[in-house]
Amino acid sequence: MVLSTTFAFAVLSVSSFLCGQGFSQSTNTLQRRSIGTVCQTIKSSISGASTVYFPGGLHYDNDVYHWASSSIEDSVCSVEPGITQDVGIILQILGSTRTPFAVRGGGHSTNKGFSSTPGVQIAMYRFSNVTYNKNTGTADVGSGLIWDEVYSALEPFGVSVIGGRVTGVGVAGFTLGGGYSWKTNQFGLTVDTVQAYELVLPNGTVTSVTATSNPDLFFGLRGGFNNFGMVTKFTFKTFPQGQVWGGLITFTKGVLPQVNDATNKFATTNKDPKAAIITTYNFLLGEPGVSQLLFYDGPNPPPGIFDDFLAIPFLTKDVSTRSYLSLVQSSPSNATANTRGAFHTVSLTSYSLNMINVILNETITRGIDLSTFDSGIFISYDVEPFLPSLFSHGTASAYPPDRSRGLLPQNIYYAWTVESADQDVQNTLRASANVIRQAAIAEGQVTGNEAIYGNYALFDTPISSIYGANVPRLQAIKKQYDPTNVMGLAGGFKF
Ligand SMILES: Cc1cc2nc3c(=O)[nH]c(=O)nc-3n(C[C@H](O)[C@H](O)[C@H](O)COP(=O)(O)OP(=O)(O)OC[C@H]3O[C@@H](n4cnc5c(N)ncnc54)[C@H](O)[C@@H]3O)c2cc1C
Ligand SMILES: *[C@@H]1O[C@H](CO)[C@@H](O)[C@H](O)[C@H]1NC(C)=O
Ligand SMILES: *[C@@H]1O[C@H](CO)[C@@H](O)[C@H](O)[C@H]1NC(C)=O
Ligand SMILES: *[C@@H]1O[C@H](CO)[C@@H](O)[C@H](O)[C@H]1NC(C)=O
Ligand SMILES: *[C@@H]1O[C@H](CO)[C@@H](O)[C@H](O)[C@H]1NC(C)=O
Repeated sequence: MVLSTTFAFAVLSVSSFLCGQGFSQSTNTLQRRSIGTVCQTIKSSISGASTVYFPGGLHYDNDVYHWASSSIEDSVCSVEPGITQDVGIILQILGSTRTPFAVRGGGHSTNKGFSSTPGVQIAMYRFSNVTYNKNTGTADVGSGLIWDEVYSALEPFGVSVIGGRVTGVGVAGFTLGGGYSWKTNQFGLTVDTVQAYELVLPNGTVTSVTATSNPDLFFGLRGGFNNFGMVTKFTFKTFPQGQVWGGLITFTKGVLPQVNDATNKFATTNKDPKAAIITTYNFLLGEPGVSQLLFYDGPNPPPGIFDDFLAIPFLTKDVSTRSYLSLVQSSPSNATANTRGAFHTVSLTSYSLNMINVILNETITRGIDLSTFDSGIFISYDVEPFLPSLFSHGTASAYPPDRSRGLLPQNIYYAWTVESADQDVQNTLRASANVIRQAAIAEGQVTGNEAIYGNYALFDTPISSIYGANVPRLQAIKKQYDPTNVMGLAGGFKF
């Protein structure tokens, strides 16, 4: 332990001031003052590689920033650790003072309190190295990066990793939750391509976790988010990456039947693992429409796969042979950044035409309903077809708890502007997900108990809904490595 004596005094328990569960409630002056003392303790205990920031500056603003404005909280201070040893010191101080904190990777969680806090905001920006190792065919990637930066750094080597599909998403949360990529049909989820984690355990010890060095932690980190400590570096398997084909097409409501047919046909007949799509039904300014993303992992798709989409009259079209990074950046995900946001999800096994119609009907009816709460509403329902073999590329992991058959994540996203609409929006999100799940049950394609994807799940989703039969094992691993529940001071889905 290299802690300065200044923090030994800090026996007061900051979180005991915070009533109830979760730390997202506003803190009072007394609580903020004692958290401020903890900030000072951290400041005087860390090395020159790391810095504590207070409100009123650009660094602090970047540290608490989130893609969804509803995920931004007013932290007492932020800290940007620059070396793993400092991460350990920070965790020891936060743990011994029971101070609420948050770990932020790319800040794309739409669940308030998962990577935000009224306490101490840790931002991982300084873990920003990408190192390609040609001999092992792996890349070491810092946990403060977004996928755009990783793709860009690996492009000169003609390789890539299995990561995010749209611009701006963080490596850390995406990977720690599972990770559905454009290349998942070929190589699995992002968790299936992680070779090693550099992990700072809740007691501050820095360790490297691989399948053989620590099978339990390795299993837990593959889907278990921030329950086991803070990851500073991921070692990913790399794959050759040349030019790809695809991009964004937008369609208006007049052609929805053709889009539904093309999507259903792709989802039920495509067998080429290099081909992928996301059909996003959205509702904006009183009108339904579609954002259609097409992807082929090669410069030219074989004829047939995407012809139906390309034949539909479009509003805008940006489809070409391009770099992987350029394709990822062709998505419109930045358009709704900086508004309030929430995700929820249903797991399906088939995007039948009936399911697509149910999803489209939800888009329209919920869009109209929600417009009465907030005229600035934007809602979208993603159809994400993958091959049924998508879970066959990896071994047992925290998520998905059952790899015996593939599940297709259906993502629902609502964006809105006024805080007073939060409850209504969340209730509508739950109700709409339930309608889609019930329709899938009625079709006989699912039982309704299938695991849902943590990175798409609303904040109050029970952990059993994400981790299924893995929950007892995950709780046992958690108890072993975090007996005093340091990571419980940070939000998220908790074991
Ligand atoms: C526009 C958009 C597009 C998306 N597209 C996809 C997609 O194509 N496929 C997909 O699978 N998901 C997708 N997602 C969901 C995405 O995977 C999650 O939002 C993910 O958590 C984002 O990671 P982050 O690092 O940006 O998040 P953050 O909000 O920074 O973190 C999310 C969680 O991870 C924890 N965490 C972050 N860093 C660390 C660390 N270093 N150590 C321990 N815990 C940490 C946080 O504490 C928090 O609980 C998308 C989300 C958005 C908003
Ligand atoms: C990033 O790489 C540089 C150069 O190799 C090294 O000095 C630094 O310690 C690395 N930073 C982290 C956070 O790993
Ligand atoms: C999206 O927004 C982020 C944050 O403002 C910015 O850094 C990034 O370049 C944007 N990406 C694209 C493709 O416009
Ligand atoms: C459309 O969705 C709404 C809300 O779930 C539902 O009440 C209605 O019955 C649906 N209509 C059709 C045709 O399915
Ligand atoms: C921290 O926890 C790990 C794993 O339980 C253990 O091996 C290590 O000895 C602990 N370190 C300290 C300083 O207690």
